[in-house]
Amino acid sequence: MRDNVTDNNLVELSGVSFRYADTDIVAGVSLTIAPGERVGIVGESGCGKSTLIKILSGLLVPTGGSVTVAGETSPDRIRSKVSLVMQSSMLLPMTIYENITMGHGQPEEQVRHVLREASLLEWVDSLPDGMHTYLGDRADELSGGQAQRIAIARALLKDAPLLLLDEPTASLDDATATSVLASLDAATSDKSRTIVHVTHQVGHLTDYHRILHMQGGRLYE
Ligand SMILES: Nc1ncnc2c1ncn2[C@@H]1O[C@H](COP(=O)(O)OP(=O)(O)O)[C@@H](O)[C@H]1O
Ligand SMILES: [Mg+2]
Repeated sequence: MRDNVTDNNLVELSGVSFRYADTDIVAGVSLTIAPGERVGIVGESGCGKSTLIKILSGLLVPTGGSVTVAGETSPDRIRSKVSLVMQSSMLLPMTIYENITMGHGQPEEQVRHVLREASLLEWVDSLPDGMHTYLGDRADELSGGQAQRIAIARALLKDAPLLLLDEPTASLDDATATSVLASLDAATSDKSRTIVHVTHQVGHLTDYHRILHMQGGRLYE
């Protein structure tokens, strides 16, 4: 009989460190996350949360330890298994459709679906060119909430096994943050998505399975 639960983990970090200029910004983090788990991470500014998220997303290669995400260990393969929403999202001078599909050309039907999930469909449908509205001149006119919702729609469309959220509402006012998180929760709750959500506000982590505390580059249960 096989009794090796580690085979089923979506994320496995083992002794992961990131050292920069003689400082361990991430210091020997070991963490396993099962498929469908929602894990929150809280901690003060500068404790290493974003660095850890960048390692989990394959954007940063740790200086020590090993990272496996959805069976992948090389950074570019890991990137294909992860959707990432960060604090502020860069919208490119392209249409809404192109900003969400990022060159992958998914059918409009699928884009409408994620626009609805991100609570953007009504607004997009009110624009003369709909999802083909060019954002080049408008990107600055969008509210922070709309920009984050577009980033969320992009992440939902990618439909990667692991959704990483790095303070996705930190730049928004409280009411907008609550509303954006409600859309995100509704879009992800029924699908048993695996989520790692870094936030300053532990109140944003209702219904999370685990909340970890980060301090000085280390994670504590
Ligand atoms: N590219 C970098 N070069 C040098 N120091 C960095 C770099 N990125 C982050 N740091 C430092 O690492 C520490 C942790 O940063 P970060 O992971 O962004 O923390 P958090 O997201 O918890 O606020 C901070 O002290 C920050 O100044
Ligand atoms: Mg950060």
